Amino acid sequence: MSRTKIILGLVISAIVIGFSFIWFGVFNVAANVEHWTISTKFFELVRVRSINARAGNMTVPDLSDKARIKRGAANYAAMCSQCHLAPGADTSELYEGLNPRPPVLYKYDKFTDKPSEKFWVIKNGIRMTGMPGWGSNNSDEQIWDMIALISALKEMTPKQYLQLVESGEHTHMKGGHDDDAKPHDDSSSMKQGDHNEKSDSKKPGHTKTQKKPAHKNDGYKH
Ligand code: HEC
Repeated sequence: MSRTKIILGLVISAIVIGFSFIWFGVFNVAANVEHWTISTKFFELVRVRSINARAGNMTVPDLSDKARIKRGAANYAAMCSQCHLAPGADTSELYEGLNPRPPVLYKYDKFTDKPSEKFWVIKNGIRMTGMPGWGSNNSDEQIWDMIALISALKEMTPKQYLQLVESGEHTHMKGGHDDDAKPHDDSSSMKQGDHNEKSDSKKPGHTKTQKKPAHKNDGYKH
């Protein structure tokens, strides 16, 4: 058999095996099944290199600015804490259901501690992970405000966090939407009644524990 025929045979076999792998559903897409370690490492490398190549060198504003941290708090509570949690909240339904798990941003960074890379991730999201891209409804300034808040979170007690959230305003509609329009529904992933834009959005996230105001052991004062 000539060399060309052997190569052709190998290529055809690879295509048939690859197609069968997909067609017979060998790959399990369930979120509650872990990847093989080698696949996890592979995806992590792809993600890290992709973000690193795209984030570039952007000018980072002063993230210790107190006004910025305060502005970021209510938006973080309304849009991010249901996945990324917040001081005083140890878990949530979204946090538990996602694979990969969202990093608990008040405790640790997952794959980047660089503000410019965080900015890129928040603005664009990460495909196939559950991390949405927030750039279409939030200005760059609003994204930096949330990064300032995230950077300050690790030092914050639940009480300090709550106070910040209560003192701020959920503003991300500004700039992206008509402010006079009725509040948009950013609760699509939540059960009805869990999220009320007017009264609930200042509360720190929509975490499992917070759904039971009568439950006093959740780290928050009610
Ligand atoms: C529906 C769940 C979900 C929501 C809501 C969400 N995220 Fe994420 N986020 C994720 C997941 C999952 C990852 C990790 C993806 C991965 O491991 O590849 C992530 C990753 C990140 C990272 C990278 C973390 C690191 O340390 O490397 C940042 C920063 C981040 N999110 C910020 C935010 C901000 C700010 C918001 C709100 C505006 C937000 N996220 C809302 C799920 C979410």
